[in-house]
Amino acid sequence: MAEVKIIFANDELISGNEARKNFVAQQKAGHCSVLIEDMHYIVIKEAEKANLEKVRSTAGDIARDLAAQKVDKATVQEGVLGKAFVSLDNEEVYTAFAEGWELGSYQFLSYKSEAERFNTELRVDESNLQAAVQSGKIRAAATAFSRDLMNELSDVLNPETYPEVLKKKFEGKAVEITVHGKEQLEEMEMNGLLAVNRGSKYRPSFVEIRYEGDASKPLVALVGKGVTFDTGGISLKSGKDLSSMRMDMGGSAAVAGAMQLLVDSQAKVNVVALIPMVENTPDAHSVFPGEVIRYKNGKTVQVGNTDAEGRLILADALIRAGELNAEYIVDIATLTGAIVNALGSEIGGVFGDEELSFVMKKVGDHNGDFVWPMPLVEAYDKSLASDYADMNNISSLNFAGSITAGLFLRRFVPENSKWLHVDMAGMMSKSSASGYYTKSATGYGARLLADYTVEISK
Ligand code: BES
Ligand code: ZN
Ligand code: ZN
Repeated sequence: MAEVKIIFANDELISGNEARKNFVAQQKAGHCSVLIEDMHYIVIKEAEKANLEKVRSTAGDIARDLAAQKVDKATVQEGVLGKAFVSLDNEEVYTAFAEGWELGSYQFLSYKSEAERFNTELRVDESNLQAAVQSGKIRAAATAFSRDLMNELSDVLNPETYPEVLKKKFEGKAVEITVHGKEQLEEMEMNGLLAVNRGSKYRPSFVEIRYEGDASKPLVALVGKGVTFDTGGISLKSGKDLSSMRMDMGGSAAVAGAMQLLVDSQAKVNVVALIPMVENTPDAHSVFPGEVIRYKNGKTVQVGNTDAEGRLILADALIRAGELNAEYIVDIATLTGAIVNALGSEIGGVFGDEELSFVMKKVGDHNGDFVWPMPLVEAYDKSLASDYADMNNISSLNFAGSITAGLFLRRFVPENSKWLHVDMAGMMSKSSASGYYTKSATGYGARLLADYTVEISK
């Protein structure tokens, strides 16, 4: 029954002993282990330039270390986090710590034959902060749900099974789930989704999840790209290992996680999730480059490249958001490799309504799902011209690929909706564990979309 205590560096146990005090002061990290009379202590030092992301990361690192050492329980002694992160709001610190703790010890072990799940239980010795801790756990569970969906294999989570997974997850909760199957999609003229689906052995789906925490609030539509594997289609991708393209449904995972977070925290919002699900693969039946898709709104699109499939299915979902009279729309997608070049792997890009982009940036700065506002440069819009359709799904430019993808989407945004588009391709996965991230899927976007929805519904 290994147990550790988490204490602050100015605790008498440390500050009252010169050797221990010096030892702790010499440690580069913000926390360290100290063994005192058979008891294992984690000592947290006062954070320089403290922020909530640091709290989450510290907690994640400690949780992962202790789990690796098979420690059963860790108890945060009274007042410790308040002192270590003295400049921050105390409740937010405890929420962030619990959130980072749970996410740092996240594991995806479904396909490891020997590994056993081991987590170190977090205890907080403070009765008036239990709600804050609980809130952190709810946030982590929603993000972990997004991670699970992303990590899952494409033969297990495919456009036919994915709707069932969501139904099961939301069973008994205050949501209404509608799954549109292939025939309905034909009736609904979701022609982008149907075109991308043509090469796949699975039938496509379009899932709508409705949550009315407060029906008087403006309707927010959360749209997520649900490509359960992106081979590129006839415009086949190349590369040593395309395994991560099973995470091309990361946008949909973000939306599903956000819905879980909103529902479980009983948020006073009015929201609908719109999730097109499809696998993009080559086959004799696949959509070929040069073909034209006619959308329900009358617009025609030449498929210049079948690997630019995300925008083709998001277009259907944006049209659908208009039919539902959504006042706000956010779409989120692993949309372009270009955003990885532009912003790397620590921050997503947000496009669309300028004012709202900055609202979202603030939300991300606070909750750790970072985004940076990007421009929809008008001059590039004409690069989407096609010789024989209203537009092409790829730009003729050999730069600004994320912007032209955003400009393509903008053409399908309903006239009366305020719209944001988040390109999360760079945030899809991590190549190593650090802070509250583990290797592989990040669960990016769940917290971002949920908190943004709450923010604009105030
Ligand atoms: N799913 C990819 C984008 C992607 C790339 C996600 C890397 C995660 C990591 C998307 O469907 C795609 O293939 N985009 C193309 C668009 C191009 C053909 C205009 C791209 O970015 O290369
Ligand atoms: Zn693609
Ligand atoms: Zn894709």
